[in-house]
Amino acid sequence: MSDVGFQEVTIATPDDWHVHLRDDTMLRAVVPFTANLFRYALVMPNLSQPITTTASAAAYRERIIEAAGQDASAEFTPLMALYLNDSVSIADLSAGFSDGVVHAVKYYPAGATTNSEAGGSSLISYGPILSQIADLGIPLLVHAESTDPSVDIFDRERVFLENELAPVCEQLPTLKVTVEHVSTTDGVVFVREHSNVTGTITPHHLSCERSDILANGLRPDLYCKPVLNSKENRQTLIEAATSGEPSFFLGTDSAPHPLSSKRSAVGKAGIFSAPLALPVLAEVFAERGALDRLEAFTSTNGARYHGFEPSVYRVRLRRLDDRSEVFDEMLRTNDGYEVQMFGVEAARKWSLELLQGSRLDA
Ligand code: DOR
Ligand code: ZN
Repeated sequence: MSDVGFQEVTIATPDDWHVHLRDDTMLRAVVPFTANLFRYALVMPNLSQPITTTASAAAYRERIIEAAGQDASAEFTPLMALYLNDSVSIADLSAGFSDGVVHAVKYYPAGATTNSEAGGSSLISYGPILSQIADLGIPLLVHAESTDPSVDIFDRERVFLENELAPVCEQLPTLKVTVEHVSTTDGVVFVREHSNVTGTITPHHLSCERSDILANGLRPDLYCKPVLNSKENRQTLIEAATSGEPSFFLGTDSAPHPLSSKRSAVGKAGIFSAPLALPVLAEVFAERGALDRLEAFTSTNGARYHGFEPSVYRVRLRRLDDRSEVFDEMLRTNDGYEVQMFGVEAARKWSLELLQGSRLDA
C-alpha cells in the first residue's frame, strides 16, 4: 500500500446494510462492535434455523437488542430481513413489513454459502411472491452467485446475474433489488444498468483480492463468498465505491466463524469485518484520494435508498503514521471460541473517535 500520510475525515455515523450477527454466545461476543459504531444494521436471516416468519424476526431482534445491552449507542437499530423460501407467507410478510418488524427479504441460492441449504433453487420460481414484494416496496436482497457446479467459482456472480436476476428485473421493473457484496466488474455494470438495483460492497472486497488468499501461504481468514476476485475486478469495485454514486453503499458482510471452523479441512466462508471496517475503508478511500466521498458510501447512500435520512451524529477518523497501538485480533466468546478480526493493519493506522453529542446540525 502506498503511504498516504496524515489525513482526517469526519463522517455521519455509518450504517451497515449487510451484517451477520449469529445467535447465543457468538451474538453476545460480536454485537457490541456493531452496536457501538453503527446506526442501522440490516441483519441477515441465515441462522442455523432460518428466519422465515415475522414472529421469529421479532424474537431475534429482541435477542439482538438484549445482547447489545446498555453500551450500545442510542442510535443503534437492528433491521430484520426474512429468508425467502417456500415457508414465507405473503400475508405474514406484508403484516410484518407494515408493522415495521420486517425491513427486507433475502434470497440465498441453496448451497451458495453458509446456512443457505434452505434457500431457493431458482429465483424466477418465486415470481408470484416477488411481484407482491415489488408492489409492497419491500427491498429484495440477493446473494448473487450461481450454484451450477460446472461454472467456475470466479464466474458465478456474472452467471447468476445473467441467468437469474436479469430476467426477474425485466419482468418486475419496479422491484427494489440490492445485489449483495458485489465482487466483480459484471456486478458493478449490472447495478449501473438497472435503475432499481443497488449494490453493497464489503471492506474485504475493496482491500483484498484473490492473490491475497493464495500467494503467500493459504489464508483461510480471507475466504468468503463470493470469493475475492482478481485485481482488475477489485479496481472496479474501488472505483464504484469511491465514486459517490448513490447506488453503491456499505454492507460489511461481517460474518464471524470460530477459528476452528475457518482453519479446518473444509473451512467456512466468512470474514469478521465489522469491528475494523471503518479504518479499512478509510485506508482504501485515502489511497484513492477520495476521503471526501467516504461518507456517501458509509452513511448517506444506503440510508437514502432504504428511506432514512443520514445520522446527525458523527465519527472522526484520523490517520497517524506513528500510531503504535497494538490490537488483539482475536475475539473470545464466553464459551471459549476465538474469532479472528479483519483489518488490524489498517486499524493500526487510523484512530476513530465517536463524536456522540456533537450533532451535525449543532
Ligand atoms: O462469506 C460469507 N459468509 N458469505 C455469505 O454470504 C454468508 C456468510 C456467513 O453467513 O458466514
Ligand atoms: Zn452475508
